[in-house]
Amino acid sequence: MTKLVSGFSKLSKNEKIDWLTSTYLNGNEASKNTITQYWNSDEKLQQLHDDFIENTISNFYLPLGVAPNFDINGTIYTIPMVIEESSVVAAASKAAKFWESRGGFKTEVISTEKIGQVHFTYSGAFEELEAFFNTIKPQILSDAKSITKNMEKRGGGILDLILVNKNKDLKDYYQLHATFETLDAMGANFINSCLEQFATTLKNEATKLKDELNVVMSILSNYVPNCLVKASVSCKVEELTDKGINAEEFATKFVQAVNIAKIEPYRAVTHNKGIMNGIDAVVLATGNDFRAVEAGVHAYASKDGKYTSLTHAEVENGIFTFWIELPLALGTVGGLTKLHPLVKLALDILGNPNAKELMQIVAVAGLAQNFGALRSLTTTGIQEGHMKMHLMNILNQFEATKEEKTIIVEKFKTETVTHSAVVDAIEKLRS
Ligand code: MEV
Repeated sequence: MTKLVSGFSKLSKNEKIDWLTSTYLNGNEASKNTITQYWNSDEKLQQLHDDFIENTISNFYLPLGVAPNFDINGTIYTIPMVIEESSVVAAASKAAKFWESRGGFKTEVISTEKIGQVHFTYSGAFEELEAFFNTIKPQILSDAKSITKNMEKRGGGILDLILVNKNKDLKDYYQLHATFETLDAMGANFINSCLEQFATTLKNEATKLKDELNVVMSILSNYVPNCLVKASVSCKVEELTDKGINAEEFATKFVQAVNIAKIEPYRAVTHNKGIMNGIDAVVLATGNDFRAVEAGVHAYASKDGKYTSLTHAEVENGIFTFWIELPLALGTVGGLTKLHPLVKLALDILGNPNAKELMQIVAVAGLAQNFGALRSLTTTGIQEGHMKMHLMNILNQFEATKEEKTIIVEKFKTETVTHSAVVDAIEKLRS
């Protein structure tokens, strides 16, 4: 039977599921049930989710957790996090509590500039193109007025538009490189609409040039090195004492761990992955584009030609300071923010922040996550926490009673958790 299909998007949802199950899943009723049991019983709500993307057949759940006790510049936040990985929310909560009693997190937005480019080729001399650009620049900007006027009323809009000569890297290649202030919107639609309008004016006016100009594409950049936020924590070294941890030793090892991630790309990738556990979880919960954030953040981590840590740590004059600086293009209006009821709820929990405030909250989640990871890695190791979770998963799999769980958890406080050891213990207890 052919697995090719035409007109698939025109089929109803049920027809799509029938086609899918009969073509790939032997018409298995159980598979059909798996798909439909995740439908929401509220038809209107389900329709809303169906319409977010194309060819929707069901919903894919991810847990929404919350990490309380974040003191950010004196305001206490409970941070919503969407993530499938265990221990991340627990680590965030633990770091929040730790720093709440040591002065909290301090943050600042350094810059908020977004970028977009019209990529085009020109076969003539650069001087000619430059003169042409200078002549038509006012028109390019005025032709985009219908798109920019509302954003301008609110204090945003186009910041600058320049011609960039990329001829040395690629024959005949030039750019219109534009910078934008998009306020509380992530700005993708606004920027792309502006860019396509710039391209239209450019093409229309290019008929006056004697050599050929061709627009290749117009698109925003997810690399936003001038849309930066900083978050930090700081305390006296002796205040780092916690649950038997030697403060001096901890501070030294912690700074070493960060310095290793600064110079060693293999470590830096995992170090930053841990940071993104926190960042992505809040970005997702607040309806933002985590792929855009990921792409921009990792590009920023390599901005000096070598992939490096997004966080920094130092001890100076007995003061331990740990901080993160990263680019975050986020929105609190537009996109999913009003559409997805859980995104709206997450923003309500955060007190409906503006984009700048959300940048700071997200940066803090990243810093807290890195603190939690490095604290475990440089003291107990991360397996201790993971294995506790693993033990619970096995016990739940065997439908252990409350009493059985208490006995077995106690036993494995002093023994190594492996799947077979836990199964043995359950069997022994039950016999
Ligand atoms: C696991 O998701 C994240 C860590 O590997 C991060 C790190 O190593 O810093 C624990």
